[in-house]
Amino acid sequence: QCPALVADPFTAYSEIRERTRLVRANMPGVEPFWMVTRYDDAKLVLSDPRFVVNSANVPGKAETANRIEQYQLANGISPEHVAFSRANLPSLDGADHHRLRGLVSRAFTPRRVARLRPRVEEITARLLDRLPRLAEDGVVDLLRHFATPLPLTVICELVGVPEDERDRFRVAVWEWMAGAAPAGPARDGARRETAFDYVRGLIGRRRVRPEDDLASALIRVHDEDGARLTDSELVWTILTLVVAGYETTMHFISNGIVALLTHPAQLARLRDDPDLMPRAVEELLRWCDPVLGGHFRYATEDVEIGGETVAKGEAVMPIITGADYDPRVFDDPHRLDLAREGRRDQSHLGFGHGVHFCLGAALARQEAAVAFDGLFRRFPDLALAVEPGELRHGREHLWKFLELPVRLGTE
Ligand code: HEM
Repeated sequence: QCPALVADPFTAYSEIRERTRLVRANMPGVEPFWMVTRYDDAKLVLSDPRFVVNSANVPGKAETANRIEQYQLANGISPEHVAFSRANLPSLDGADHHRLRGLVSRAFTPRRVARLRPRVEEITARLLDRLPRLAEDGVVDLLRHFATPLPLTVICELVGVPEDERDRFRVAVWEWMAGAAPAGPARDGARRETAFDYVRGLIGRRRVRPEDDLASALIRVHDEDGARLTDSELVWTILTLVVAGYETTMHFISNGIVALLTHPAQLARLRDDPDLMPRAVEELLRWCDPVLGGHFRYATEDVEIGGETVAKGEAVMPIITGADYDPRVFDDPHRLDLAREGRRDQSHLGFGHGVHFCLGAALARQEAAVAFDGLFRRFPDLALAVEPGELRHGREHLWKFLELPVRLGTE
């Protein structure tokens, strides 16, 4: 990877954006692809029906997609994982995507998210209560002890994973997200439980005894007449929500905390005017979104962008970080301004745009607002325990810190 992109993608993508609209990228193990970094171009790629998310839906490309799947199967990836990669919500196009998204939206409603708020507040308060006890020499890692457990606990609560099973579920999900097949059998010789096994078991139990949770609501959508969720879709949808909603939210909360701690005047403004929180969350999403680029899109026909042609079948990555720092849309884009005003049709692309717009946006916004509010209210003297430049960050597709050491100060 390019060292400048790794060190500071926000500046590096801005430089690329001002040089060219369409840039060719080469990365080891991936076919060469294009990147677009301007706001209008990223929006176009995210929402224009000439682009699809699944390369198998490009006329003439299905054969290549099949070959990749055969290769994965031959290399030990489980058949269920391969099938999941092809058929989960973010990887579907057209009518298939429309049908599944419509069904999931019937269970994952704004009302369900709003009703969850008191529980999000309770979970946040409980995690904050523990922090002073976890501090060593006055320092505690907020990524490990706050930003990570919060979204996982919330998603478990939403889906309906009981409290005493959450550790088991977390291990299965981590192994799966890390791409690791369960390492060998469990101690008693039985096959180790995968995330798929766990969710299938949970669904079996909720089918017998429904509760007021998303798993039970999805089962109802599955069982209703007409266009139904299939058994596999039921399992895969729950896992998709967990995977899509966990790492992104945890790193957004952690990035947001760093942003506020390193901009004390902005933080003071937020403290003076708590009603600013919804706008502050939007600005933080624009300014320190962990998602640097959206999923690849594939051109189903030749598409011209900025005088160059993305040929049919070629991949384009919409660089969200480039788009959200585009001065054509955001004045002085490198400045963090929690009260930033903008045109409604030019909001940030942190949650994507178009038919794949983030399904969990309302939940993520709510979690972040509760987290920032709770943390800075409880610990008014909170401060980074190291210089901002010393915070270690990850080198993958997400802009993320690997640890977040802070001094809590007095409560
Ligand atoms: C889609 C970002 C939290 C579930 C997306 C997309 C983005 C995104 C950029 C669109 C990707 C594309 O079009 O290529 C984020 C960020 C989050 C967050 C920055 C946290 C700050 C969540 C949460 C959930 C969730 C909490 C669920 C509980 C989904 C799903 C999709 C999605 C299911 C796919 C929607 C579809 O394809 O129709 N997210 N997300 N996300 N997100 Fe989120």
